[in-house]
Order: sequence, then C-alpha cells, then structure tokens
Amino acid sequence: MNKQELSATANAMVADNKGLLAADESTGTMGKRLDSIGVENVEDNRRDYREMMFRSEGIGNYISGVILYDETLRQNAADGTPLAKLLNDTGVIPGIKVDMGAKDLPGRPAEKITEGLDGLPGRVEEYYNLGARFAKWRAVIDIADGIPSRYAIHTNAHALARYAKICQEGGLCPIVEPEILMDGAHDINRCQEVTEEVLDVVYNELYLQEVYLEGSILKPNMVISGKKCATQAPADEVAAKTVETLKRCVPSAVPGIMFLSGGQSEEDATVHLDLMNAMGDLPWGLSFSYGRALQQSALQAWKGEAANNAAAQAAFIERAKANSQACAGTYSKAA
Ligand code: 13P
Repeated sequence: MNKQELSATANAMVADNKGLLAADESTGTMGKRLDSIGVENVEDNRRDYREMMFRSEGIGNYISGVILYDETLRQNAADGTPLAKLLNDTGVIPGIKVDMGAKDLPGRPAEKITEGLDGLPGRVEEYYNLGARFAKWRAVIDIADGIPSRYAIHTNAHALARYAKICQEGGLCPIVEPEILMDGAHDINRCQEVTEEVLDVVYNELYLQEVYLEGSILKPNMVISGKKCATQAPADEVAAKTVETLKRCVPSAVPGIMFLSGGQSEEDATVHLDLMNAMGDLPWGLSFSYGRALQQSALQAWKGEAANNAAAQAAFIERAKANSQACAGTYSKAA
C-alpha cells in the first residue's frame, strides 16, 4: 500500500475549500434525470451532458474531483479527448464508483446490501490505469419501523471496509459512503441515533480490517429530519447535530468528510454545509460531494440542447462556487 499517495489524494480532495461533483449516476438513474428534461437516455446524450459540465469555465476553482461511472471513465469527449484526461488537464481528479448497487438483503427484503466485491481488485487495477485516483462505494440504510436491523448495519459496514482496503491496496483513495436515507417519517433525533450507530460500526470495521484512515474520505448523510416528518428541524439544528455526531464517531485521522446531498434542495445543502463550517474548530475538512444539489439547475437549463450549454454551465458553476464558499463558512455572509 502506498500510504503517501493515498493521503496526498485524500488531502487534495478537500483542499482549498473545494469539493466533489458526484456524476456517477448509473445508466438507470441517469435515465430518470434525462427523462425529467425530455431527453433520450442514450450514450451520446449522457456523454454530452457530462462533457458540458466538465468543460465549465473555472470548474477547477471549486471542484477537486469528479466521481465517474464506469461508462464515463472509458468515454471520449466529442473531439476525441478522453473525459478523464479532460478533467485532469483542468486540475480535477477523476474518481470512480466501484460498487454494483444496493440489492435486497437476504432474508430481509426491506433492507439493502451493496454488492460488488467479487473481482474488485482487478477492476481497481484497471480503473487506476484509466486515470482514476479515488473510488466510491455507497451503502444504503433506511429508517422505518423496526429498521435498520443490526444485521443490515453490520453487513454493510463489513462490505464498506472490505472495499476500502481493496482500493487502498490498488492505489485508489476510498470514499466510504454509508448513506442513511432521508425518505422516512422519522424525526431528526432518530436520524442522529441511527447515524451515530452506523458510523460507530463502520469505523470499528475499518479499524478491524486495517484500513489506513489518513488515506480515506467519509461521505455521510447530514443529520436531518425525514422528508415525511411533520416537524422539520431548522438549519442550525441540522448543522449542530451533524457536527456533534461526526465529532463523536469520526477519528481526526480522517482528512475529509464530504457530504452527499441526499434529496435536499440545492440551497438547503449549501446552507447546512455553510453553518457547519462557520462553527469552526473542526478536526477534518468538511466539504461536499453532491450529485443532485450540484446538478439540478444545470440539468433544467440544459434541456439536451448544445445551444443551452453556456447557461447550464453558468448554473452549475453558481452552485459549485456557493458550495465552495460554504466550505469556508462564508456563503451566507456573501449572499
Ligand atoms: P446526491 O448528492 O444526489 O445524494 O448524490 C451523491 C451521491 O453520490 C450518492 O451516492
């Protein structure tokens, strides 16, 4: 394991108030996004959309890396330049989603287990040679009556640690993503309780499997009310409870914590991150790895038309810049 390379990558991912663009939607998920703007889900359209974002003027000022899907890491831009090279040339690190999706947990179909460990060392080697320097694996934990079970938490934590160790051996910095969904009717306190338990088990597994924490990144959910909860906790409570939970569970050896947006609006995701960083005195870099919260406005502005590229790029950069300000805790003051 090349510890120096891994920690250099992890530190670069959260340096200079930058964050990640999660553009690793699977072909199916990308289909839903394109469908929302009436665009056909074919390879060229997926490429054109992502190439448009990657070519945004100034992307490297706010975005340190992009999480790609297998198809995109192998794709060339319309002019023949590999998309990974295009990113590298602007100082943006290419990364790769390596999990094979969340499947029904055997014997407990209401819960999920993420698959993709078989053959992973070989894929990691290939991805490294294609230019990727970090990886992502997402575990999905749902909150409802009687769940999550201990079984779901432990199997997912075990798989996350297996994945992280395999990636580190192959030179990819692992993003460890245990996502607690915000879809339920639970309140913020229940989210905090489950987030704390899951992170505690995840860091225990990472320790048991000898994962090098200095060369890893955590991608958690924020501690937030379930979408269907009648009482939505205010932004300052989200920020305070998220930081409280992370301080309890995440060792300071971890260089960076980069949140998922999880279905929050673009503005909420930015404001929450801003409030946390404005609190100051944090032992890790606190940044973003947003998918929907960086892309919603850009996708709506694009509509599948090259003529709209400039407007879509402006919308994307507006969110990227806002989130970069949130990494410094200066977004609300700048607004
Ligand atoms: P969202 O920010 O849309 O939740 O996506 C981030 C991500 O990569 C989830 O795995």
